[in-house]
Amino acid sequence: MTFGCQMNAHDSRWLAGALIARGFAQTSIERARVVILNTCSVREKPEQKVKTAIGRVRAITGGDPEVLVAVTGCVAQQLGQTLFESGCQVRLVAGSDGINGVPEAVERLLDEPRLRLSLLDFTDHYSEREPVGCAIAGQSRPVTHVTVMQGCDNFCAYCIVPYTRGRQKSRAVKAVLDECRAALEMGGAREIMLLGQNVNAFGRDTTGDDDGFADLLARVAALPGLERLRFVTPHPGEMKPVDIESFASVAPLCPRLHLPVQSGSDRVLARMGRAYTRQDFYNLVAALRKARLDLALSTDIIVGFPGETEEDFNDTLETLTDCNFMSAFSFCYSDRPGTRAALFADKIAPERKQERLLRLQALQESLSGRWLEARLLQQTSLLIETRSPRQPCHNEEKVGERTEVLWQGRDPYGALVHVGLPSGRDHTGRMVPVEITKVGRHSLTGRQTGSAW
Ligand code: 5AD
Ligand code: SF4
Repeated sequence: MTFGCQMNAHDSRWLAGALIARGFAQTSIERARVVILNTCSVREKPEQKVKTAIGRVRAITGGDPEVLVAVTGCVAQQLGQTLFESGCQVRLVAGSDGINGVPEAVERLLDEPRLRLSLLDFTDHYSEREPVGCAIAGQSRPVTHVTVMQGCDNFCAYCIVPYTRGRQKSRAVKAVLDECRAALEMGGAREIMLLGQNVNAFGRDTTGDDDGFADLLARVAALPGLERLRFVTPHPGEMKPVDIESFASVAPLCPRLHLPVQSGSDRVLARMGRAYTRQDFYNLVAALRKARLDLALSTDIIVGFPGETEEDFNDTLETLTDCNFMSAFSFCYSDRPGTRAALFADKIAPERKQERLLRLQALQESLSGRWLEARLLQQTSLLIETRSPRQPCHNEEKVGERTEVLWQGRDPYGALVHVGLPSGRDHTGRMVPVEITKVGRHSLTGRQTGSAW
């Protein structure tokens, strides 16, 4: 079971691959001997969610002590060995840097039923994992995620990441390039998404060995077979001119950037410790759009940070409109243990946070709708990911001369697009030129306009 961010989803895929390589197979909880809960603690009541999940496993398995439950990731890092108190099935807790050791620990725990293990230490460098390639059922993955760094040194006032994922550790350039190359040559990848909590700080730490993030982008972009390159998540305060320039000079880099602004109020930004003002952010957006005219931006917003006034909140609404984000993830502020903001006295009442969140989401919904509408009749390309769940598997449709089934993929801006493609073959991983013919509430529909490649 995976909770949380793309880094966690990526860790879970690696864990599954490493266990499959050792002879394990994925199955349902009812039949499992090992259940791994890979947890997230960035927001809300994560401890509660994990305890509920442990309880669910206990209920489904009848508390069978032979079933091994492992809790990994950020909540495990935060709660540590206290998780052993949640019942006898929990015999392994592993934090962010401990995940690498989980496959071996699982094997050992199955051999030694009375043992409990905790892997909670942080490492001071990025420790490489055994490569698992596309071990998960030999799947080919058109979009492959590659971690470039772990942890964060920014200590934004609200954020638990530096405590759960530890200090920033960059991976060696060669290791990143090798993994990308393997994904492109053997894993069926056409798009690579580089991952890190503060990705554009890549290389700027004691364990990095390179000139920086822009240099890494150029080197990954030069790998044969790569169609598209993306990255998450950059910190707006750390985007260097060379990083911005990449959007003009690195051809496979997609015209889409997730750039968390968090708030549009200078007062709140300062209290958050974000190290930029609204004007700095606007200047950055202007420079990025100058480098890449059609750049689509998305963002994260925290609503109801301690001390946020109605005026501060209105500044945030204004920022959404001014930056014309194509989408925004927005969250009510919640206290995270150990962070500076948790100690701030001027907390906002839950009803007020909720009311502001709804107002903000209504505004973003209309901005997102407008962004999608502007796509009508545009020519673009899709990287096909799966069959569209909109159409039952057996359904085919006669369209002119050909019989079509509905697939879905993403355009370079990351928008989800449905498209009818010739029946009778697997289109996963193909690039398809399309014209946008229909705009939905959260996705688009297109028509194939040329040969796929
Ligand atoms: N409360 C609410 N939202 C938070 N985020 C991080 N910490 C908190 C918190 N304490 C949000 C930020 C971040 C996203 C991953 O989660 O917007 O960008
Ligand atoms: Fe958290 Fe991101 Fe700030 Fe790092 S830069 S502390 S991960 S919000």
